[in-house]
Amino acid sequence: MADLTDFIQQVKRANDIVDVIGSYLELRRSGTNFMARCPFHGEKTASFNVNRNMQIYKCFGCGVSGDVIKFVQEYESLTFMEALEKLAKRANIKMPELSSDMRDGERAARKKKQDVYLEICRDTAIFYYKQYYGPRGQAARDYVQSRGFSADTVKKFGIGYSPDSRSLVSYLRSKGYSDEDCLACGVIQRKSTDGNSDKFDALSRRLIIPIFNMQGKVIAFGGRGMTEDITRYGKYKNTSETPLFSKKDNLFAINIAKEQKQQSALPNIVVVEGYMDVIAMYQAGFKRAVASMGTSLTDNQAKWLSRLTSTVYICYDGDSAGQKATVRGLDILDKAGLEVKVMSVPERLDPDEYIKKYGSDAFERLIDAALPLADYKLKLLENAFPTDTADTAKRNDNLAKFVKGALIMLKQLDDVRQSQYITAVSLKTGFSQEYIRRKLTEEPNDAAAAPEMSEQLSPETRAKYFVAASLLAGEDYAVINEKPLCDTLFLSDLYDYLIDCGNQGVKPSADMLYTVCPNATESEYSAIIDVDFGKSRYRQNAQYFAECYELIVKEKLRRKRDELLAKIKRNPDDLQLLNELSSISTKLN
Ligand code: UTP
Ligand code: MN
Repeated sequence: MADLTDFIQQVKRANDIVDVIGSYLELRRSGTNFMARCPFHGEKTASFNVNRNMQIYKCFGCGVSGDVIKFVQEYESLTFMEALEKLAKRANIKMPELSSDMRDGERAARKKKQDVYLEICRDTAIFYYKQYYGPRGQAARDYVQSRGFSADTVKKFGIGYSPDSRSLVSYLRSKGYSDEDCLACGVIQRKSTDGNSDKFDALSRRLIIPIFNMQGKVIAFGGRGMTEDITRYGKYKNTSETPLFSKKDNLFAINIAKEQKQQSALPNIVVVEGYMDVIAMYQAGFKRAVASMGTSLTDNQAKWLSRLTSTVYICYDGDSAGQKATVRGLDILDKAGLEVKVMSVPERLDPDEYIKKYGSDAFERLIDAALPLADYKLKLLENAFPTDTADTAKRNDNLAKFVKGALIMLKQLDDVRQSQYITAVSLKTGFSQEYIRRKLTEEPNDAAAAPEMSEQLSPETRAKYFVAASLLAGEDYAVINEKPLCDTLFLSDLYDYLIDCGNQGVKPSADMLYTVCPNATESEYSAIIDVDFGKSRYRQNAQYFAECYELIVKEKLRRKRDELLAKIKRNPDDLQLLNELSSISTKLN
């Protein structure tokens, strides 16, 4: 492991963060730092900061931070090792052999398996694609034609056909893959009825739609039934959950959205439900659609989307956007910092059907007419609790329910928008703005965001962060003699590193934060790198450091005292313990 850390440092020294990020983004100098538009969330003004001294980046908009390896890893959606390898290559440094002490053995094994699975999926996609054009693919070609998809579209999406349930199995065997691996990545299935020997392709006789990940690698397949008995066998069958694929963590066509973004800025992405909608939209010139594959949106999907764009249009079939699970999905997008707009397609058509019937210009107008999430929620409330009824009791009841729902919605808005929508709600309901404002503060604020991390932390924990930050920044007053009590892995790993540096007499470097604590949260990183060590604050910082360190030492002493007290309870006559206790008590006072 020590070797690997050395190698990582060597690679980092050879890859200046400003040069590397500068090759991906347009950086503008600002003082000693560099700024850019953040690639990890959509934004118009540059709040992405690259710090050459510290060799780290930080976005003041969305809060992400990291070192040069993490940047490449995140930007290119690579694993840590892949990013490291890429940067090593960039600096002409030879990657060391994959010896088990250089690489975490299990991780390497997993990675290798993953590569095999990816190869199987790719070969499977090629097989299906060839079958589509082969002698047995006539039915599939007819079907595709009946849906109006062109040859270019078929090629772009890699559409294929599974001719029967056995051919794929023997094809993959002939390629040398083990059945076990093919089963693991979900392209073949074991027949449940008769034990072990019978493997088959569950997508047999279906039109095949490959699903790609962000890096453009095939990870799964959707198979559409083409005969009318789909009611019996299911319209679609998809690859089940595998190490490569999970429906809720992926979005169909995210690879195409990413490709579009690489060609030019991507002002928005349209999220639809179905494969066919994405395909039809692409053919009609809307190349920024992805499909949630019929499930409610998740945090992970929101994360992918916010890396590509700032605005998401939701275009779901009929009323399904209004269903509870879906509104929750919309809130998830909103929380991820995305601007959310909701489209509604008339006549209960899906985008594919609508475009076929009315053309792409009409569809474009639906996009323009999309409602902001807050308006959409108000509309749902209006539909649920109509107030245009003559029955006064009913009307008042509905009005009360409407206001209750509106308050929940209002609480989720930022101040500016809240004011705006308070006006709107006031106009709709006849309640005064003051009344609504009062209600907003009265009700328990359950929907409010969690308090900032610094408020939640105990003084001791805050002290540990500050002391670690001072050590990491190499401030000359920052010296410690022992490791504090650490109740998080982050602090524990960080202090191990800092103490290690102290023992070896080397200066810690800030960017190593991301190497020694690879799995920390953004707020943990921020608590360390956001501390201002400007020269003008030297005296304050030095004094604060002393106070913090005292807190840390005292906490440790108190813990020791408690342990001693517990022991003394069991051995009341042990003089040694009593002596220790008295010496600790003196130190504590
Ligand atoms: P739809 O039924 O709206 O499908 O389901 P679609 O894409 O419009 O397909 P066509 O136009 O009828 O051919 C939306 C999505 O839900 C998932 C698929 O991802 C589908 O694209 N789904 C649907 C399934 O996974 N299984 C099913 O049986 C049905
Ligand atoms: Mn459809």
